[in-house]
Amino acid sequence: MFAIRATEDGAAEKDGREGVERIELDLLLEAIYRRYGFDFREYAPASLRRRVARRMKQEGVATVSALQDLLLRNPDVMERLILDLSINVTAMFRDPTFYAAMRERVFPELRTYPFTRIWVAGCSTGEEVYSLAILLEEEGIYDRTRIYATDINEAVLETARRGVFPLHKMQEYTQNYIRAGGTRAFSDYYVSAYDGAVFDGSLVRNVVFAQHNLVSDSSFNEFQLIVCRNVMIYFDRSLQNRVHELFHESLVRFGVLVLGHKESIRFSPYADRYEELDADERIFKKRR
Ligand SMILES: C[S@@+](CC[C@H](N)C(=O)[O-])C[C@H]1O[C@@H](n2cnc3c(N)ncnc32)[C@H](O)[C@@H]1O
Repeated sequence: MFAIRATEDGAAEKDGREGVERIELDLLLEAIYRRYGFDFREYAPASLRRRVARRMKQEGVATVSALQDLLLRNPDVMERLILDLSINVTAMFRDPTFYAAMRERVFPELRTYPFTRIWVAGCSTGEEVYSLAILLEEEGIYDRTRIYATDINEAVLETARRGVFPLHKMQEYTQNYIRAGGTRAFSDYYVSAYDGAVFDGSLVRNVVFAQHNLVSDSSFNEFQLIVCRNVMIYFDRSLQNRVHELFHESLVRFGVLVLGHKESIRFSPYADRYEELDADERIFKKRR
């Protein structure tokens, strides 16, 4: 009897603790929004919780409320939390089969336009943008293309503009490039300097890097291609739908939308406005 009671008490205590943490997390996100204008209120909670817990540990505080107190008064703490929350993992020619599919399925579409505007939303430190630029250059369509590469996080954009990536990654990226159907020596695109690979600046001659927040900023142009990979995976369903609305209104008719391997348009209200160009690679063409 006592054992059951103890278990029930334990469960109730755990529920209570989790309830308090949920409230604290909601308040933290509200505070961030009101103080700094960054809106993480509709990001998927499980991943948010993990990242906030990590920041608490690194700032040496025991509760979410204490972290909130700290970051309301200290923008440096906010900057560090943004880096944690915005999850910037990326790679050159990440998912090589995707880039091979771009050559086969999407570039023929782009060739039908005299000029193409591409939006890479959530571009992180730029590896995806440099990969696309290389591909477009090799396919001979880069000179009639402008790429708008955006991210919520100004720090990653600064890295993207510099175009210097870790030298030790080049072996992996070379393999990815070859699997993506690359036709040249990958090392032609960079020179080594200390432990960095400095990419040819001319690769970004047609790229505009700019801060843009998918949650709160509106459309800023019309595009023939939108690439938004591995970003919406961190958003809850209603936020995903809002971003789909933004993309739908930003694409020309018959424009192409590309998502990450784990992302889909299937459950959004916009699903029937697109046809699948390549289901595995999450490449969709706007019908209407
Ligand atoms: C995991 S990275 C993906 C990078 C790249 N697209 C790729 O697939 O390799 C996710 C990026 O989305 C950005 N991000 C997160 N929330 C955002 C938002 N609300 N608006 C714009 N970018 C956002 C993050 O800063 C991060 O750089």
